[in-house]
Amino acid sequence: MFKQFTFTLNNTNKIIAPSSIGIGSVYFKMEMRSTAENYNETLKNNLIKLFEQGKGVIHIDCAANYNVYPEFKDALKVNTERQLKKREELWVTDKFDTFLGTFPDPITHVNFVIKELNLNYLDLMLIHYPVVPAKNISLSIAEIWAQMETLKKEGKVKNIGVSNFSVKDLEKLKETAVIKPVVNQIEWNPYFMNQTLGIYDYCQENNILIEAYSPLYPITLSSSGEDVSEEGKNFNNYIDLLAFKYEITNSEVLLRYTIQMNVLPVTTSSNIERVLSNHNFNNDRPDLRLADEEVKKITELGKEHAQVSKYEKFVKYFESLLDN
Ligand SMILES: NC(=O)c1ccc[n+]([C@@H]2O[C@H](COP(=O)([O-])OP(=O)(O)OC[C@H]3O[C@@H](n4cnc5c(N)ncnc54)[C@H](OP(=O)(O)O)[C@@H]3O)[C@@H](O)[C@H]2O)c1
Repeated sequence: MFKQFTFTLNNTNKIIAPSSIGIGSVYFKMEMRSTAENYNETLKNNLIKLFEQGKGVIHIDCAANYNVYPEFKDALKVNTERQLKKREELWVTDKFDTFLGTFPDPITHVNFVIKELNLNYLDLMLIHYPVVPAKNISLSIAEIWAQMETLKKEGKVKNIGVSNFSVKDLEKLKETAVIKPVVNQIEWNPYFMNQTLGIYDYCQENNILIEAYSPLYPITLSSSGEDVSEEGKNFNNYIDLLAFKYEITNSEVLLRYTIQMNVLPVTTSSNIERVLSNHNFNNDRPDLRLADEEVKKITELGKEHAQVSKYEKFVKYFESLLDN
């Protein structure tokens, strides 16, 4: 029987892991706008194939500033026409863009998206960044959160959370929030376990589920040939060893590691076979667990490696927008 990993959120709702199709990163439009010329056929087709072939619930990670609503909309249309996945078999996360101000406020955003994508509700809505440099947004983070709470009460959004928040940002939010965020989506992998100081421990202690973007970065860094460090070699040799021992792929080792660290991986691929294998990874071996000492060793070897952030350059880019 097909068995998917689920985490229980702090509001008792369940969420499926991993998110196998993040529709940012490889599908992201750098030019920050969607046009007929940059329409991404691969994304649309990969979503449709996942609806056709992925068992259970499909967990999709979207955001306003990925500029992929047209492709997502077309894939969902095919899904409805061909009766592939029921609404409850889709988990749709979206993010309110405080940086570029794709929408002026969360209520306008969610009303647009659920109508445009014909979804009725969103499963999870996040504040994408903890600051509001966008000139067309006149709300503070506290006011944005209050709107997210309204959307949750109205049932237009089932769960609300944040992304790229630090401990300080979460503590500040607590001063005015009525509803606690269920997740904090941050960059997280064995080479980068604290996007900001103490964030991993804080979220674990406060029952805020960490969603990891770039959970496979150590593997992609090594396969790109960019990482020639001794620590990188040691890390990869150990992942190879575990992959061999359990007869699974290196990616699966890292997905399982992430989940055993109580973190939900948000991954993606331009290659549909990889998307499907990430989505289905738990299917054949639902009872497989890495041993506790293996999880510990991956963490230790990761810590020996210099901290590397895949998205640091984006953060710098966004910060440069703040200066202007
Ligand atoms: N909240 C935020 O601020 C934020 C920021 C960044 C990203 N995100 C979200 O997180 C998602 C994932 O981020 P990411 O792309 O950095 O994650 P990632 O999983 O670390 O990296 C994805 C890369 O891993 C490779 N890959 C995937 N599955 C593989 C497999 N089974 N074997 C070998 N290689 C594999 C893919 O390469 P190929 O394409 O060549 O297969 C892909 O380019 C994004 O799409 C986005 O939705 C959120």
